[in-house]
Amino acid sequence: MMILTIISNKCVTTALVCNHPENQTMTRDLDSTGAGSAAFSHEELFGRIRTLKKEMNALVLAHYYTVPEIQQVADIVGDSLALARAAEKNDADVIVFAGVYFMAETAKILNPGKLVLMPDANAGCPLADSCPADRFRIFKEQYPGALVVTYINSTAEIKALSDITCTSSNAEQIIRQIPENQQIIFAPDKNLGGYIAKKLKREMILWQGCCYVHDAFSERYILQACQQHPDAELIAHPECREEVLRHAAFIGSTKALLQHTVSSSAKQFIVATEPGILYEMKKLSPLKTFIPAPKDPENHHSVCTQMKQNTLEKLYQCMLLRKPEILVDEKLRVASLGSIRRMLEMSPA
Ligand code: 13P
Ligand code: SF4
Repeated sequence: MMILTIISNKCVTTALVCNHPENQTMTRDLDSTGAGSAAFSHEELFGRIRTLKKEMNALVLAHYYTVPEIQQVADIVGDSLALARAAEKNDADVIVFAGVYFMAETAKILNPGKLVLMPDANAGCPLADSCPADRFRIFKEQYPGALVVTYINSTAEIKALSDITCTSSNAEQIIRQIPENQQIIFAPDKNLGGYIAKKLKREMILWQGCCYVHDAFSERYILQACQQHPDAELIAHPECREEVLRHAAFIGSTKALLQHTVSSSAKQFIVATEPGILYEMKKLSPLKTFIPAPKDPENHHSVCTQMKQNTLEKLYQCMLLRKPEILVDEKLRVASLGSIRRMLEMSPA
């Protein structure tokens, strides 16, 4: 089995970008939300947010990687697929998305008539930003017959250039439905693409992007952790490197990892994904032990700083001020909707 990877100038740049998220230049408007509510306690903010939810008929969606207090007050906490589905089917007038930009943007693409808010519109995803449309268009042109399957962690421009969107929950399910002889470009995460290609024994052309949070785990320190905790089961997100995945007892999306910790008979887990998920894991299995996978000997957490930009104060302020609002140009929205709709059709709930 051969996994075709493309190494070129743009791929080198991609690797540099994903290794240095702090170097990312966000071009989105940074709103000054968050000021003025820091004096309130969490309890007070919970009460005010709940009141605003009712008054605005708002639905608060939060990813598992956000801070615990955001997860506590959200209506739905989930992985990227569960949140996209929730954004698609709801009766709310307002969607408040505590996650990263591409998630709120996807919600807006699915709901042009609704007000979509983010606590901090500057919370981008470096993986998504590592695949700019101008470079991707040139990359795609090299494979004229290829079908483009793109991870939802991408910009609306990239979705518009794609045939099908996917998440880590349904990537395998979607690739399985594509005829064997069809050439596939998979972008932007090379680790997820490589994992699926290996599992399905299927050649795919991979864009060389990665998530700096998951790509931070290395075999060396993971194996050290396994030796230190011989009774613990290693579980890993497919955005991790192959050198880590090959040692994992279970590989899955954030939600699949969570479900596995509930159903497994193991009592201890080394968790190779963003540690925000530990909040739900401990909540669902209070008697089990969860050890965040080490990034290096000094650092036992590989944290997504962009997800943590969502604070309770900013959540309250964005609802109060009804901004920052997520807007998508109508032509771009229509162009990007097809690949998202295809994903939802190919992986019904
Ligand atoms: P899932 O939500 O599909 O597990 O993906 C993880 C992630 O990195 C989201 O940005
Ligand atoms: Fe992007 Fe990785 Fe953060 Fe997810 S965890 S939002 S892929 S940087």
